[in-house]
Amino acid sequence: MSHYQKPPELYDGLRLHQNENTGGCSPRVLAALAALRADQVGFYPPYAGATSAIATYLGVPADQITLTNGLDEGIMALAVACLRPSPGSAVPEAIVPEPAFEIFRFDTAVAGGRLVQVMPHADFSFPLTEVLAAITPNTRVVFLTNPNNPTGVSMPLDAIRTLAAGVPDGAMVFVDEAYAEFAGESFIQDLPSYPNVVVGRTFSKAFGLAGLRIGCLVGSPDTLDPIRRAIPVYSVNVAAAAAIQAALGDLDHVHEYLRQVSESRELLYQACDRLGLKYWRSRANFVLVCADARTDQLVNGAFARGVYIRNRSTEPGCAGCIRIGTGIVEHTRRCIAVMEEALCAAP
Ligand SMILES: Cc1ncc(COP(=O)(O)O)c(C=O)c1O
Repeated sequence: MSHYQKPPELYDGLRLHQNENTGGCSPRVLAALAALRADQVGFYPPYAGATSAIATYLGVPADQITLTNGLDEGIMALAVACLRPSPGSAVPEAIVPEPAFEIFRFDTAVAGGRLVQVMPHADFSFPLTEVLAAITPNTRVVFLTNPNNPTGVSMPLDAIRTLAAGVPDGAMVFVDEAYAEFAGESFIQDLPSYPNVVVGRTFSKAFGLAGLRIGCLVGSPDTLDPIRRAIPVYSVNVAAAAAIQAALGDLDHVHEYLRQVSESRELLYQACDRLGLKYWRSRANFVLVCADARTDQLVNGAFARGVYIRNRSTEPGCAGCIRIGTGIVEHTRRCIAVMEEALCAAP
């Protein structure tokens, strides 16, 4: 597959296939959106308020934050900044430890870089030795995700430090922390010692703002500079800028979601044990479950009952695997009931 296949637009059932917060955003976000005035919508948006609120939340100075229209835009900008071939030079290489967020692959191709995939261990523990061995003088980006999507497994922060010290001058290590809130761990406090690392964050997941599209890149201003040039000047809209400030003013809403995610994961593990399904313990708001020969029965059976879960079988190392969102407890209970029905139904 040479380009990203967007999942079909399914909004009638229970969406447990895109790692969204199915409980939605804080009510304060809706109030902030309702309070937007016509003149604010008429003007190009100011970013100082949103940038400073995010900087405070992440504990960094504001000049280390670049807002992006979803983290997707940040990843594309990074690929464009680092992976475009220049005449007379070797093709820039991007290392992607698999299985990974598939956008890394597609954005590398769009920029014209060469993809270097590192295949996974069976338990999805981080393949540090293999990633180090894949580094060449042409390496320009190492794409990491912590905790990882689609496995939910996290990597040791020490492995990031080792890679940052191991890449050639001018190369970047990108740490995608889309799910960091769920793991309660980040590389951000290490950034002053590792200026060649850029961290990506999104407010689509724990904060429930996927529909508004807001994320950010975090790094030293010098490192961010070439990436900033690849981001359109007003790519984050005024509604998203207002929404993130309201959302950051209601961290209780996020904490309650995180609590439900922990409970949901345990409920799903117990259900998998009952149903004889293998799974990997996750530190994100989803769990990767191996259903082997029962994959289609489970995915199609859940779909027929209005619950969407994602077949990840075609991802490297994920044959027979399904990724299931584990957020709002009531939704997880419904999903488990449907999984039990789908697996027990006569073929
Ligand atoms: C690892 C990872 N990075 C980035 C994103 C994209 O985030 P955003 O919605 O902010 O574009 C996702 C979304 O699923 C993701 O899983």
